[in-house]
Amino acid sequence: MDHSTPLSLLLFLSSLSFILLILLRRRPSRRHLPPGTLGLPFVGETLHLISAYKTENPEPFIDGRVAQFGSIFTTHIFGEPTVFSADPDANRFVIQNEGRLFESSYPGSISNLLGRHSLLLMKGSLHKKMHSLTMSFANSAIIRDHLMGDIDRLVRLNLEKWTGRVLLMEEAKKITFELTVKQLLSLDPCEWTERLRKEYMLVIEGFFSLPFPLFSSTYRRAIKARSKVAEALGLVVRQRRGERESGERKNDMLAALLDEGGGGGGFSDEEIVDFLLALLVAGYETTSTTMTLAVKFLTETPLALAQLKEEHDEIRAKNGESEALEWDDYKSMMPFTQCVVNETLRVANIISGVFRRAMTDVDIKGYTIPKGWKVFASFRAVHMDRDHFKDARSFSPWRWQANSGIDSVNLFTPFGGGPRRCPGAELARAELSVFLHHLATQFSWVPAEEDKLVFFPTTRTQKRYPIIVQRRNPPKRCIE
Ligand code: HEM
Repeated sequence: MDHSTPLSLLLFLSSLSFILLILLRRRPSRRHLPPGTLGLPFVGETLHLISAYKTENPEPFIDGRVAQFGSIFTTHIFGEPTVFSADPDANRFVIQNEGRLFESSYPGSISNLLGRHSLLLMKGSLHKKMHSLTMSFANSAIIRDHLMGDIDRLVRLNLEKWTGRVLLMEEAKKITFELTVKQLLSLDPCEWTERLRKEYMLVIEGFFSLPFPLFSSTYRRAIKARSKVAEALGLVVRQRRGERESGERKNDMLAALLDEGGGGGGFSDEEIVDFLLALLVAGYETTSTTMTLAVKFLTETPLALAQLKEEHDEIRAKNGESEALEWDDYKSMMPFTQCVVNETLRVANIISGVFRRAMTDVDIKGYTIPKGWKVFASFRAVHMDRDHFKDARSFSPWRWQANSGIDSVNLFTPFGGGPRRCPGAELARAELSVFLHHLATQFSWVPAEEDKLVFFPTTRTQKRYPIIVQRRNPPKRCIE
């Protein structure tokens, strides 16, 4: 990221919104805003937030304000006055009322790079239709009948090449990218997919820069990379249109988008490219970071790692060394792995919350959020709240074991909720479980060096979590 020019721009934008805020406040109003502070003139509390999230312990930013003002407070971040919610009921209200009282709101950098036809930016009935179309390509039945085999094969293929020092974050990214390309376009990994992935990484970097080509070289690079990605995907779309005319049909997301009679409704090439591009983005960074952090947390919690290994050795002992994992292995033989996945999602908070904009004045828990204001529903604040989760700041997969009494509908929302709930949630869980299976049964490992977790601009470890891997002897097969 560029730091100097974006900072001055940030100052400029913040000052504009600050002036607007003052004008707003002069108007006679019966609004009862949540308590809080707008921080410094112009920059608000953005720098406080960034400096907290650049450390391993970002919690004080939220803790301090919740202690002073309560779980719904007013702040001023990223250039706008914002109502920050650390309250599970308010969060639920916000995400469930998507399209009625609130609408999703992404920073300019993200919307420009995603493209206006992406699911994340769609609204109204088109969003509803396309959300359910996406779900139909990542639901349990599809994973069971089609994707499980691909996930198992592609994870194995990647792990086969591992020796010595491995940059786990890089490897996890490669795996999730290959899986998503396979799911969307039915393409197996090759030089083309690897080149596409490299361009993707540049696009994603641009998400966290200011959207002004003149001021940010990161953003300029991202725009360039986006047009290369769009060109490459456009080529595939055109090829597939041709194949379709000659009667060939594949069973993937692209086929559904091309299918005029189906849920897709005859989209243009540009619309399809935007849609695919955003799906690749949504599933790539999130799932690969979760994979990496699952391994980090397990490595730091040896009892949990031992229990996980035992669970997966049993599956291998039943299946033999080379048999592919099946849906039943995943669904019936991995209860502790599901606890590890839940706990990783809870502690990692890859998506720490969602921004929405109030479409009208909204009353919530005795306060009013003025029309046009931003709201941040913080999932992280709830996941890390000691009132909701005992010993909330420790990684303890056992808390998810049967009869834990956790209200997982209201308190546990790593995939969001309401009409925009992540359509890739089931798929991400399956990918994580299969990855942990092959890692735990094939390797033992130690961290290659100390690596710190940071949370800004995204959740990541500073050094991409380097580990030294050693191949394990395969577990002995049971003789029945
Ligand atoms: C651990 C992995 C993942 C996490 C933590 C995660 C989290 C989330 C969250 C919190 C949202 C809601 C955003 C909002 O309400 O504004 C979301 C939306 C979305 N996710 Fe995921 N996600 C993950 C994996 C995936 C995968 C594998 C896919 C690929 C199919 C995917 C595709 C999407 C899409 C397309 C949306 C936008 C939905 C909409 O706006 O209607 N995600 N994700």
